[in-house]
Amino acid sequence: MSSDETTVSGAEDRMAGVEPVPGVGKPDPVLVADGVRRSFGGLTAVDVEHLEVQRGTITALIGPNGAGKSTLFNLLTGFDRVDQGRWSFDGEAINGRRGHQVARSGMVRTFQLTKALTRMSVLDNMLLGAQRQYGERMAGALWRPGWRKQEAANTERAMALLERFRLLDKRDDMAGSLSGGQRKLLEMARSLMTEPDMIMLDEPMAGVNPALVQSLLGHITSLRDEGRTVLFVEHDMDVIMGISDWIVVLAQGRVIAEGRPSDIKSDKQVIDAYLGAQEDEAEAGEGDDG
Ligand SMILES: Nc1ncnc2c1ncn2[C@@H]1O[C@H](COP(=O)(O)OP(=O)(O)O)[C@@H](O)[C@H]1O
Ligand SMILES: [Mg+2]
Repeated sequence: MSSDETTVSGAEDRMAGVEPVPGVGKPDPVLVADGVRRSFGGLTAVDVEHLEVQRGTITALIGPNGAGKSTLFNLLTGFDRVDQGRWSFDGEAINGRRGHQVARSGMVRTFQLTKALTRMSVLDNMLLGAQRQYGERMAGALWRPGWRKQEAANTERAMALLERFRLLDKRDDMAGSLSGGQRKLLEMARSLMTEPDMIMLDEPMAGVNPALVQSLLGHITSLRDEGRTVLFVEHDMDVIMGISDWIVVLAQGRVIAEGRPSDIKSDKQVIDAYLGAQEDEAEAGEGDDG
């Protein structure tokens, strides 16, 4: 992670001169993917020729339902296997690695449907998050010298993150008793247990009440401002246009457009492929609790 202070304008500067065309190179990409393909039966879910994500930015991944956004997240973070393709994180090839190995290299993700273990306390969810990311071996290594020290450090870090995400007073509650929005916060907090350089958020705002959306937006921005790279999937165009430094549009598994919010807003292909589809979705109606 870079130690210099990154601001909104800093992130914009990094993208200065980058052409808004699919697959375009970035000045300092932290993630580079090539020929990433995944089919389910006869359906090609992901077919990404070339994609670079600029370090230290908030990049939104948008596209209609079924475009392949979650599948792409799964592939890049080692939760699903590609048919073809390779990608690197921070200059290191990481294709073929499993989820916890990818996390150890500094890239973590959250899930569209939160994975909080409902019958476990909020604090234990945090600690388990750390342990998982370090790999399964750690769990059975209670006897190891240094383990207690590690545990104390993990607890301290968990408490600090719970405070930051305003969940500290919930630490002994079962995760299942949290609201949908609080679970999203917990999942984001948990993903930070290993100090990742890059965090991938799959619909972090879905089903969250408007007050919590504001606080989630603030958290996402501060992740970027402390030097991390954020790639997130979202449907709300106001949210996307408001906080993204760069937007990548996926349709039928392919990157059909990418650019600054202003580029995407005026892109006819995007409006046809995405904004039109979103209106249909809104008409169909979506509901969830906060
Ligand atoms: N495990 C799976 N088995 C079969 N089809 C899948 C599976 N996962 C995703 N798909 C299909 O792949 C396509 C992309 O899905 P997904 O990545 O979830 O899209 P998005 O997140 O953009 O809405 C969809 O058509 C979906 O039905
Ligand atoms: Mg999805």
